[in-house]
Amino acid sequence: MTGTDNERARKAAEGLAYSSGFGNEHSSEAVPGALPVGRNSPQRAPLGLYAEQLSGSAFTEPRSHNRRSWLYRIRPSAAHPPFVRANRGEIRSAPFTECLPDPNRLRWDPLPAPADPTDFVDGLWTLGGNGDATQRTGMAVHLYHVNASMERRVFGNADGELLIVPERGGLLLRTEFGLLRVEPGHVALIPRGVRFRVELLDAAPDGTGPTARGYVCENYGRPFELPHLGPIGANGLANARDFLAPTAAYEDVEGPVEVVNKFCGHLWTATYDHSPLDVVAWHGNHVPYVYDLRRFNVIGSISYDHPDPSIFTVLTSPSDTPGLAGVDFVVFAPRWLVGEDTFRPPYFHRNVMTEYMGLIEGAYDAKAVGFVPGGGSLHNMMSAHGPDQETFERASAAELAPQKIDDGLAFMFETRWPLTLTEQARDAGHRQRGYDDVWQGLQRHFRP
Ligand SMILES: [Fe+2]
Repeated sequence: MTGTDNERARKAAEGLAYSSGFGNEHSSEAVPGALPVGRNSPQRAPLGLYAEQLSGSAFTEPRSHNRRSWLYRIRPSAAHPPFVRANRGEIRSAPFTECLPDPNRLRWDPLPAPADPTDFVDGLWTLGGNGDATQRTGMAVHLYHVNASMERRVFGNADGELLIVPERGGLLLRTEFGLLRVEPGHVALIPRGVRFRVELLDAAPDGTGPTARGYVCENYGRPFELPHLGPIGANGLANARDFLAPTAAYEDVEGPVEVVNKFCGHLWTATYDHSPLDVVAWHGNHVPYVYDLRRFNVIGSISYDHPDPSIFTVLTSPSDTPGLAGVDFVVFAPRWLVGEDTFRPPYFHRNVMTEYMGLIEGAYDAKAVGFVPGGGSLHNMMSAHGPDQETFERASAAELAPQKIDDGLAFMFETRWPLTLTEQARDAGHRQRGYDDVWQGLQRHFRP
């Protein structure tokens, strides 16, 4: 990628128009009159476009969960040559069978920078996951650390939706539905099957060129939705109006474009004679979106005790058991702590759910050292964890004045099944040895 390309991406990312609302029936046209009125599939779609439906749910799922969009495009998606198997690099998918599930608490430093030019697809590095991509259950945790934009290359994932959590470097996502700008502190979601390209917006801190680093939750299961609010009421947590879908923008590009298709855990590739990002108009609710985590309305205790962290759920992928998520996306955003006679950091616990945590910026209030932006920790099912010794001592002795937690932005992918590592995550040089030592200094205080 050249500096000129970086500038082109930055220019394209300026002043983007969005359509707001979670799960809405959005509609958008890049050319006036491109969107049919009153029907989805007229005998001749306007402007000589092809009409095509993209289903994100079975046709017959209940209306509350039914997802589909209608796309009006220069060529139908069907116009492509055969896909052939491609090298999947460091991408792995469920079922994860390389390693035994590990009951130990594990932590990693950030993924190292690539030695060679590496774009988003080539740079995806799978940490682990659970479930089975072919059964549309479970999830995977991927990391990326990349230094190049995708060039004449488009990616699509049949296996699930991708929740992208940038930690360093903004991204421009050119999707079939239009453009999304996603910065550290934002998240972007690419629905199952939607094609997109990732371009880098920012230079590395040392000025050596474009860079981007972050996390991806691949959700094989039911699409993420907003959690029910129960007694919280009609507002709060992530508000629906803060989710932004793109407006239609198309590429009219002839010539070779590589389309990489992730299907049942493997990558397949085909060279099209045009860009498939050629959707001139669309409507529907199976759409990509971006969300600014700082818009999250944090709700917590104003009396005593630390609420369970489910109160910080941004998005949830329901399972077939009420209240049991395939995966939750949870954010620890800036907030006030005011609980009286309360141990305020997250409590010690053992959880039937499995927790992968990452840090977008700053520090996390349960760990004084060792958990750094771009790094991550895994606390598998029933593994005992909680504040480190330093945090415990400090919080136990702290004067309980109102306290603002505003120096960090951490998140969690919390999933119903144990997470099994890939060999590369188990053996990684950036996996910390001695993470258990965090809890070794906790002294007995029991004096009967
Ligand atoms: Fe936990």
